[in-house]
Amino acid sequence: MRVDFDPAEMAPNEFYKLLTATVVPRPIAWVSTMSPDGTANLAPHSFFSIASVRPPVVLFSSVGRKDTLRNIEATGQFVVNFTPEELFEQINDTATDFPHGVSEFEAAAIESEPSLRVKPLRVAAAPVALECELHSTVRIGDGTVVFGRVLHAVVSDGVLVEGHPEIDKLRPLSRLGKNEWGTVSGVRDLARIRHEDWQGPAADR
Ligand SMILES: Cc1cc2nc3c(=O)[nH]c(=O)nc-3n(C[C@H](O)[C@H](O)[C@H](O)COP(=O)(O)O)c2cc1C
Repeated sequence: MRVDFDPAEMAPNEFYKLLTATVVPRPIAWVSTMSPDGTANLAPHSFFSIASVRPPVVLFSSVGRKDTLRNIEATGQFVVNFTPEELFEQINDTATDFPHGVSEFEAAAIESEPSLRVKPLRVAAAPVALECELHSTVRIGDGTVVFGRVLHAVVSDGVLVEGHPEIDKLRPLSRLGKNEWGTVSGVRDLARIRHEDWQGPAADR
């Protein structure tokens, strides 16, 4: 038996709970921006993915109009910082709804460092940072999808093995449903099958 859920017949918040509990695990973009008057902002966004490879473009969605979105619209720049397990509580601290004008870097005591190609600061302890310029935005209902062209990526050498970022060293956090967060465990390796090597459905092999 399967249970049906019709978004048209549910309160938006109830369907939101279903969506966020089932589109899982979601990677988290820890987005840093700079306001036009120079206040450094930092907030996690788990509606986050890759939009294109050539050019390299990432996307995240702001549900509602928040400082992150306003700063990007005003300055055209942001940085996606990686969220490692050890920064669990610091990341959550930066999701607090501090008043406009308060820097989450300062309020949550997050060490920053300058970026190479953009004005927003990077999180010093994040093992990866993607420095982005605004490509475009798409407004959908209460959400705004922000597309950012990656101008520069920086990766800590401690997470690289033969020049490649390794999952065991990155130890990313993800967002699950409710207030749940995920960690990576039980990584499995499986190469894609080329058509010429196809030997029938998995269940039959
Ligand atoms: C793990 C996590 C993921 C989140 N993902 C999103 C998201 O994808 N979109 C969004 O609008 N808010 C998201 N939030 C909430 C924002 O981080 C929060 O509203 C924050 O205060 C926004 O800060 P700002 O006003 O400085 O931009 C998330 C919060 C947490 C803790």
